[in-house]
Amino acid sequence: MTTVTARVPAKINLQLAVGPLRPDGYHDLVTVFHAISLADEVTVSRAEADTVTVSGEGAEQVPAGKDNLALRAVSALRAVTAVRGTGPSGPDAPAGVAVTISKRIPVAAGLAGGSADAAAALVACNELWRAGLSQQDLCEVAAGVGSDVAFAVLGGTAVGRGRGERLTPALVAPARYHWVLAFADGQLPTPAVYGTLDRLRGASRVMAPELSAELMSALRAGDARRLGQALGNDLQAPAISMFPALRKTLTAGREFGALGALVSGSGPTCLFLARSASHATDLAVALSGAGVCRSVTRATGPAPGAAVIPPQPR
Ligand code: C5P
Repeated sequence: MTTVTARVPAKINLQLAVGPLRPDGYHDLVTVFHAISLADEVTVSRAEADTVTVSGEGAEQVPAGKDNLALRAVSALRAVTAVRGTGPSGPDAPAGVAVTISKRIPVAAGLAGGSADAAAALVACNELWRAGLSQQDLCEVAAGVGSDVAFAVLGGTAVGRGRGERLTPALVAPARYHWVLAFADGQLPTPAVYGTLDRLRGASRVMAPELSAELMSALRAGDARRLGQALGNDLQAPAISMFPALRKTLTAGREFGALGALVSGSGPTCLFLARSASHATDLAVALSGAGVCRSVTRATGPAPGAAVIPPQPR
């Protein structure tokens, strides 16, 4: 096989509880990740050297060099497979990879789009090189690439601890939730939002983060109404303080009957839980008509993690 494409979901955080700043510059988290149907596609093929090409939503804002998270994932997997003796091998096998990313997940939007692309690159190269790593092995490599990359490999709904990379799949009812995402006109860099949270907290003592029992119970029951009320995000206050227009977006969604309204991750995307597929459409139309965001889209969750897709007919 010379070309492999993987599809990978965006993530939202149903809960994001942020603990104290650690000595390594990260924060201890307890988070409930939820993968949604909004997805990027990443294609890899053998090449003389590693390259990356990006097209689609926000492509011009994605770094195209060695800083690209998907290329860092390729290097990390190459290092692991070299140790195992399962990587790109043989006299005819060029060690480089050409990565092509087709983006629908906006960049720096709180949806872990860069992490998603890294996860897709791992899954696709695992297939391209026939490296034979299990999903668990790939999650371990992913954890070294970024805090949200392992979840993009796993997908579904999962509890994340540590930096967010220590994952346990959540026990959930087989429900499908209907989300509306409101994309903002602008970006919020994740480190800056964490930094603002630390400043807002000042010298006050920060407790260890705790999983919301009510949120987990709502997920086990598959109860969208309870889920909507239990959504929570410690990064919402700092995101709003850096991007005050988000307050208006959240209020508008609540007024249009959303079961819950929340800033997604470090923002600035806002997410709204709808009662049904048709309510999601009504909500999306109302939000875009109200002029409180750049654009809106609907998505369902949970969605599967990064997976290879069959070659598309040309
Ligand atoms: O791991 P990742 O590169 O996605 O993290 C981006 C930045 O977000 C980190 O450099 C850090 O500033 C912040 N972060 C954090 N605590 C976490 C995850 C991320 O402070 N648990």
